[in-house]
Amino acid sequence: MDDLLRDTAHRATRYLEGLASRGVAPAPAAVARLEELGGPLPDGPTDPAAVVALLDEIAAPATIVNAGGRYFGFVNGGSLPASLAANWLAGAWDQNAGPSVASPTGAALEEISVQWIRDVLGLPATAGGGLVTGGTMANFAGLAAARHALLRRQGWDVERDGMFGAPPLTVVVGNEVHVSVLKALSLLGLGRERVVRVPTDAQGRLRADQLPPLSSTTIVCLQAGNVNTGALDPAHAVCARAREAGSWVHVDGAFGLWAAAAPGRRHLAAGLELADSWATDCHKWLNVPYDCGVVLVRDPRDLEAAMSASAATYLAQGAERHPFRYTPEMSRRARGVEVWAALRSLGRAGLAELIERTCRHATRFAEGLRAAGYTVLNDVVLNQVLVSFGDAETTNRVIAAIQEDGTCWCSGTVWQGRAAMRISVSSWATTAEDVDASLAAMLRAARRIAAPAVRRQPEDARATG
Ligand SMILES: Cc1ncc(COP(=O)(O)O)c(C=O)c1O
Repeated sequence: MDDLLRDTAHRATRYLEGLASRGVAPAPAAVARLEELGGPLPDGPTDPAAVVALLDEIAAPATIVNAGGRYFGFVNGGSLPASLAANWLAGAWDQNAGPSVASPTGAALEEISVQWIRDVLGLPATAGGGLVTGGTMANFAGLAAARHALLRRQGWDVERDGMFGAPPLTVVVGNEVHVSVLKALSLLGLGRERVVRVPTDAQGRLRADQLPPLSSTTIVCLQAGNVNTGALDPAHAVCARAREAGSWVHVDGAFGLWAAAAPGRRHLAAGLELADSWATDCHKWLNVPYDCGVVLVRDPRDLEAAMSASAATYLAQGAERHPFRYTPEMSRRARGVEVWAALRSLGRAGLAELIERTCRHATRFAEGLRAAGYTVLNDVVLNQVLVSFGDAETTNRVIAAIQEDGTCWCSGTVWQGRAAMRISVSSWATTAEDVDASLAAMLRAARRIAAPAVRRQPEDARATG
């Protein structure tokens, strides 16, 4: 075991050290070699050292360089050094963090982590929750708590009797709702098409003045962090209306909720603490390894009831807090270990700095692209930048050229009918040098394929900086 783990650690550090000189996307030849890992399962055993060697030699070269500083696709964070190391330790511990009796360590670190997250995000002191696999399951669990609470108030026990014959609930979402919320609604029997959609503004924020009438059978879904623009919905106005009507407000804050952890961005999240449930990711902006998200509910009893396996489990109120009572899964890995490690290694100031720094990098991208004459489509308030290089075909060709060049990697998207490239700066590992090298690569590709929309004079370029 000792030799195996030392060899594995050596291979992993060599992998990380080699990232700077590798293309962000794997070479097609490396991806093609993945086939060698398939074929029929061998009859006999393979030495564990040889198994690790196969992974390192064939699978590692085909990885996307998510762990480096120049991956800006989707909204992917990296793994902070402490959280990666903690993940290795937790792997060795092999804890089942479902019942606390199966892992006092897992249960304690999860409870502390959830409380720390609640506090750094400025959420109510009553709120509690659990660690799940990511934003989608956090939305699922938060919306399950909402469904439980609103139907219980109508005298309906949805966990016992299901949705057939239940009093109807209305779910209100912004037009820019993330697809994961719709998926969660479909899993909950609330229907992804049964929602009332509210128009959004130019940044994708739900328009509070366009809300439909609300009632005690309404769930309003707010978004903290539009996946394209980074914009946060106006929480104060919506929560005030919802509270008056007895509605439930759920916040999909997969990444944007973390704005509340940075004093310079906190104003963007103002009012979100008035909601009833919150979903966010840890594997995005907190930079812990996949897969990790957190659900928080103002009155955790609603979450516990919604996640209960049986009425008896729900009623068994021992002194111990069993993590599985707050999440969809029963047996589960001890995600709290790496969340605790990430938060403890950063501290409040380090977390605020991580959020600020990545936002500053995003602004630098926007300034550089604008100065070169390309159109930045969003107000860059957070870590997301949308840029158009011209018409859809041109923009898509530039994105393909940037991805092929390998210096960095950005995804394509469509924003309000317009093709765009999205740059999401979410990794602790991104440095100012990574931003400069990536910007230079973007401009090289763009100049080869697309003429800038406006040829700016140098003074204009300075003015945009
Ligand atoms: C706003 C928003 N909500 C939810 C999700 C889903 O999160 P996950 O992929 O962790 O399930 C994302 C992912 O990008 C997101 O941006």
